[in-house]
Amino acid sequence: MKGQIAQKTPVPVEVEAGKSYFWCTCGKSAKQPFCDGSHQGSAFQPMKWTAVETCLKFFCACKQTAGQPFCDGTHNSL
Ligand code: FES
Repeated sequence: MKGQIAQKTPVPVEVEAGKSYFWCTCGKSAKQPFCDGSHQGSAFQPMKWTAVETCLKFFCACKQTAGQPFCDGTHNSL
């Protein structure tokens, strides 16, 4: 089950080592690419991901990626 398309471009985020992030899987969050609680009442749950190093990551916002929570280029074929 994949969420709705929030946007067809990934969201770059400078993540911090040791910090956890909650990626929105449903596509309804207004705070893309992360969960804002809008999934409540649906079957979706956010995906927790913890950074092992501080670096720039491109999070998927189309929600159709096969490499959750990151962009794998799937938005190019939507
Ligand atoms: Fe989408 Fe929480 S708002 S998973």
